[in-house]
Amino acid sequence: MKKCKIGVLATGGGTNLQAIIDACESGMIPGEVVVVIANKKDAYVLERAKKHNIDSILIDRSKCRNMKEFSDKAALELNNRSVDLVCLAGFLLKLAPSFIAEFGNRILNIHPALLPAFGGEGMYGHHVHEAVLKSGARFSGPTVHFVDEEYDKGAIILQDVVPVMDNDTPESLHKRVLEKEHIIFPKAVKYFCENKLVISGKRVIIKE
Ligand code: GRF
Repeated sequence: MKKCKIGVLATGGGTNLQAIIDACESGMIPGEVVVVIANKKDAYVLERAKKHNIDSILIDRSKCRNMKEFSDKAALELNNRSVDLVCLAGFLLKLAPSFIAEFGNRILNIHPALLPAFGGEGMYGHHVHEAVLKSGARFSGPTVHFVDEEYDKGAIILQDVVPVMDNDTPESLHKRVLEKEHIIFPKAVKYFCENKLVISGKRVIIKE
């Protein structure tokens, strides 16, 4: 099977990027991360990429006029490397519609709650876990989904569940959810690289 070329966009620490790199290196994912793009110069994801000899690119959002310019620059880097799949691994910006159109159903995102609840604009990082705690929900967990023009609305690929404890803080819940993210994100990438994902309306069928 031809190896799938993966490009990762990220803003922060990159533990999900690390999980994907590790799954590629162990052979679980029939693919390789060929480029990591960050939008902030202090993003630790860039260091993680360098440690694995992966091209690491900074496209400083603050130096771009708008998201279209940022998205065009990112698309160029991805296309220069013939990337098959784009993973948003803790990427906090909204890509331009032209980028979403160009990469079609080839963009995956990880969200730290059970979509379609607790998604949408402003729902990122600790805001998500705070909202879950405030709602009184007994369960939370990550979602991997395809990306379309609307925030957190694309077809859902995988989810997992964790309990919400009475004494949870946003931080403790984040930690519990993150452990599951590191399992389901590589798994969804593996399915994509194996051509096992079929989108049918809002549903994703996983071919076995
Ligand atoms: C994760 O919680 C992910 O769900 C969200 O951003 C966080 C990224 O964490 N989209 P990391 O940078 O992969 O450690």
